[in-house]
Amino acid sequence: MPVAQKTFAKVIAIDGPSGSGKSSIAKELASVLGVLYIDTGAMFRSIAYVANIQQIELVEGEALNDFLNSLKIEYAVSDSTLIRINGVDLSDKIREHHVSALASIISQLPSVRKFLLDFQRSLAFDKVCVMEGRDIGTVVFPDSFCKFFITASVDIRAQRRLKQLREQGDNTITLEQIIEDVRKRDATDMNRAFAPLKKSEDAMLLDTTTLSMSDVIKILAAEVKFRAAHLGFVL
Ligand code: DC
Repeated sequence: MPVAQKTFAKVIAIDGPSGSGKSSIAKELASVLGVLYIDTGAMFRSIAYVANIQQIELVEGEALNDFLNSLKIEYAVSDSTLIRINGVDLSDKIREHHVSALASIISQLPSVRKFLLDFQRSLAFDKVCVMEGRDIGTVVFPDSFCKFFITASVDIRAQRRLKQLREQGDNTITLEQIIEDVRKRDATDMNRAFAPLKKSEDAMLLDTTTLSMSDVIKILAAEVKFRAAHLGFVL
């Protein structure tokens, strides 16, 4: 009897903790390869943002389900609009500091994860894409043809976050507060019951503490091209 060939999703899965540089890496990799970039953190952030405005209690129940059913979420509407909910462009608002903590809380709720799991799966189709998050290689697309887990030390991740906030004009938060935030968020993301942040066994691990962006991109692009060629995937 012929042995069934394993089939792969045309997804480059990039997972890792916040501040590991994975967003910049995923974006740049997608641009270098000329494929769609899908930022799943932006989805959790936008739902958290809208839930906060509508004062939805962040607990499982009918109110949360009604809220989720009322959402029309649109991703990559245009070059300038990353994400829209019910017609409102949230691309910039979701980067505000307070939204990070809300997103971390909301991402623990199974109904929110299920809602976004379906949406995320609906976005990947015939073309190769880069999908970035916490559980892409483990839960969303465990059959991704290429998986990377990007990490870096807590200190360097906090320093990068501080730089980002300063560039956005936020001068209120100290490095110590950010280190504390990063530790808390890691603990929440890694210890939640549903789809915790975890390296998939078959993912390539990359620690970016001492690597430059261009080195990381070179390593990732070479690996993607090798695997794509092997599977006959067109980039
Ligand atoms: O990557 P980010 O910082 O934009 O993500 C915001 C929050 O969303 C983060 O606390 C973890 C959560 N998240 C998740 O649970 N699963 C994903 N696939 C992406 C993000």
